Amino acid sequence: MIECRWDGMTMSDAEYIRKKIAELEDELTRLKELTSDEEYFKVRSEERIAMRRRQMLEMKKRKLDTISLWGLYGHEDMKQFKSMILPVFSTSTGAPHDTMTEAAMMLSYQIINDPNKIYSRIDNTTIDHLAMKIAALEGKNIPELTEGLMVASGMAATFMATMPFLEVGDHFVSSNRVYGGTEQLFNVTYKKMGWYVDWVDAPWSIDEWQEKITRETKFLFVESPSNPLLFVADIPELAKLAHDHGIPLIVDSTLASPVLMRPLEHGADIVVHSVSKIMGSSGRAIAGVIVAKERIVTNVDVLAENFVTKVKGGHFRNLGPCLHPPSAAAIWDNLNSLPVRVRAHCERAQQIAEFLEGHEKIESVNYPGLKSHPQHEIAKKLMKFEDRTNGYGYLMSFKIKGGLEKTIKFTQSFNFGVQVTDLGRDYTTWIHPYTTTHGQMSPEMKKRAGIDENLIRYSVGLEAAEDAIKALEETLSKL
Ligand SMILES: Cc1ncc(COP(=O)(O)O)c(C=O)c1O
Repeated sequence: MIECRWDGMTMSDAEYIRKKIAELEDELTRLKELTSDEEYFKVRSEERIAMRRRQMLEMKKRKLDTISLWGLYGHEDMKQFKSMILPVFSTSTGAPHDTMTEAAMMLSYQIINDPNKIYSRIDNTTIDHLAMKIAALEGKNIPELTEGLMVASGMAATFMATMPFLEVGDHFVSSNRVYGGTEQLFNVTYKKMGWYVDWVDAPWSIDEWQEKITRETKFLFVESPSNPLLFVADIPELAKLAHDHGIPLIVDSTLASPVLMRPLEHGADIVVHSVSKIMGSSGRAIAGVIVAKERIVTNVDVLAENFVTKVKGGHFRNLGPCLHPPSAAAIWDNLNSLPVRVRAHCERAQQIAEFLEGHEKIESVNYPGLKSHPQHEIAKKLMKFEDRTNGYGYLMSFKIKGGLEKTIKFTQSFNFGVQVTDLGRDYTTWIHPYTTTHGQMSPEMKKRAGIDENLIRYSVGLEAAEDAIKALEETLSKL
């Protein structure tokens, strides 16, 4: 007699089959009681949503290491898809609809959260699992549920998280310590749409944020830590300020990753990431994500509840910045070891930052783990591993004594890692922001944002810190 597993008990196959038949009969009776197709599909959709909520809440009880590895892809999914590894559903469309009613209800978003049965521009099983994994990581320590939306890039994430709030003539306030692409999006593209940004030049000053908020302000935006100057925002204070004005705080938390900081825990409403960075550290994909709480503070009433679902079924569907399923699978794999990798990056980065800070050819080093960093105390409070020890990330920047001339010399002779516009890789990468990532910024804006000619951005990889230090020493000693 074959032994079967049933609800954790071992029983004979005859008993198993009897129990299964009884269960199916119950289900049939229940379904017969439903009066229409419509009601049937609605109930099924609600059941699915309830199940997902339960799974998300269960997931929160686990540690970050476990969430990063498993996400919500459990034994039932493995059995359904006959694969222990999350399959790549590299398809335009999912399973056929059972009836015309179901098709109509799905396409009018009366049935949601069934990624197996929808067009991949809107949802897809592989992508959905990735979104749930990241949403579970970001929402780990908050009582509310979180929902995630995967998009084609970090830029698309910033766009999709911000544009739903804006009408012509609207305004928002942003830290000027942002990635160059974000500056261009807000200053150039948004201006064309009639959406106006007011930059905060001293984003550590809550007073300056406060002064720039007007009646037309729809949200506050901050990148923390920032690329490439590593400004660290006091997120609890900023969230309080935003909420006092009835508006949300949106945080680009790319450089911290959910392993070191989860802005929603500190009061933020929406978090965005360039998933192309450490979350997708192998560098096989470009991607972005938005994660929001179920309820957010906003003066745009229609967006207050289920922001992500609304964006997904609305502007995201209309604009089409969807992720490619094989990219989602590559990132899923990278996330499996995220907490372990982040710790290794942080240990190396701290050693390298301390070495650089003590070097005579270096003017200054920006790394939140250094006591000299202006927001070191805030970073100490907000950037922590799950065991409460601090970690300050993989990115730093430093200025070379002797201005542009010596900086060019450095770039010509430094042969460790790779000179590219990229960061968060397993490999060390570095670049000269003034002429590259922030090259399109006006000289005035560069000055305001602190992007100086002698600045090098340095993303610490997984090579041994000793090797990186040796290479830096060799190059710097010859300047
Ligand atoms: C902090 C930050 N946010 C957003 C982006 C944009 O991300 P992506 O290149 O994935 O569009 C970047 C890219 O470097 C970044 O560093």
